[in-house]
Amino acid sequence: MPLEPAAVSDFLTALQRMGLTSPGEHPHIEPLAGGVSSDIVRADLARGPVCVKRALPKLKVQADWQAPVERNRWEVAWMRTAAAVVPDAVPAVLGEDAQLGMFAMAFLDEAAHPVWKARLRDGHIDPSFAAEVGAHVARIHAATANDAAVRARFDTGHIFFPIRLEPYLIATGRTHPDLAPVLEDIAHQTGARQLALVHGDVSPKNILCGPHGPVFLDAECAWYGDPAFDAAFCLNHMLLKCLWRPQWTARYLDCFARLATGYLEGATWEPGTELQARVARLLPGLFLARVDGKSPAEYVTQDWQRDAVRRVARRFLQQPVPNVAAIAQAWREDSAHWPRHDE
Ligand SMILES: Nc1ncnc2c1ncn2[C@@H]1O[C@H](COP(=O)(O)OP(=O)(O)O)[C@@H](O)[C@H]1O
Ligand SMILES: [Mg+2]
Repeated sequence: MPLEPAAVSDFLTALQRMGLTSPGEHPHIEPLAGGVSSDIVRADLARGPVCVKRALPKLKVQADWQAPVERNRWEVAWMRTAAAVVPDAVPAVLGEDAQLGMFAMAFLDEAAHPVWKARLRDGHIDPSFAAEVGAHVARIHAATANDAAVRARFDTGHIFFPIRLEPYLIATGRTHPDLAPVLEDIAHQTGARQLALVHGDVSPKNILCGPHGPVFLDAECAWYGDPAFDAAFCLNHMLLKCLWRPQWTARYLDCFARLATGYLEGATWEPGTELQARVARLLPGLFLARVDGKSPAEYVTQDWQRDAVRRVARRFLQQPVPNVAAIAQAWREDSAHWPRHDE
């Protein structure tokens, strides 16, 4: 969709105010595809291409999924905080215009930075990359755990609840009323924890495969809260990808295992058993949410897929387990009953 003239004008104003363009410079501005919650553009400046992002008041996926535009502020703040911990794992922030709710970052070209989701879909399934994702997320959590200043900077529970916990967990409880109390309990327990800086949307669509490893984008759900959320959120995608390309189930589950290990090995801020138990509790909730919550995965289109997720997710919501490997194992066993898919 082309940008409205008013939006183009806002991007130009912001670039000027951020000091990225000279007076009289009129760069070409091109919308980028893929964003669901923002206008995101490539601007070709005299200094080279940059990427500028602005949060939109409503997500394009779901009309009643409101998300305050102020979240752009926390996205930049997350990028800056993460850059101090894992500099290669975030795009360099080039400027911010808080008044217009925009920020500029280095433009990372797709040839050198393919989106992980596309790599997974196309069969480039690299468990060691998944391990790196887990390790990086853990480093950011570890570096920000028990840090009062970071905690004060990311006091965004009022945003995290409506954009993450409600649409995934609470909404799923409306589809599965027998599970509503447990899903609500998971949401409230998660929302009440303030342990480390959470990204909030660690999904393969928001991770680029860069020459120096994973690059994390799209931190607009940033929140000082329960780090288990990030781990469960990303592990969930490794389970879901099995439905997209069932012939590669074993390989996605290798990624699951390596992601979990990479993450848990770096989790130094609290006992691993407690952390893993929370991840294992969140995981089936988030899994079910991608079938019966407000944002179903777009490649889950068939009844056998939904039934498979419901079978496994419901079982672990009813009978929680303390380790994530048990959930992956159940999913692996369930996959034996799926329609046949040959390589
Ligand atoms: N710094 C960047 N350089 C190049 N492309 C980017 C950059 N940031 C985002 N993109 C592209 O734009 C898409 C959407 O960005 P994202 O931050 O995830 O927005 P949204 O919040 O709308 O999902 C990404 O999947 C990626 O393809
Ligand atoms: Mg995104």
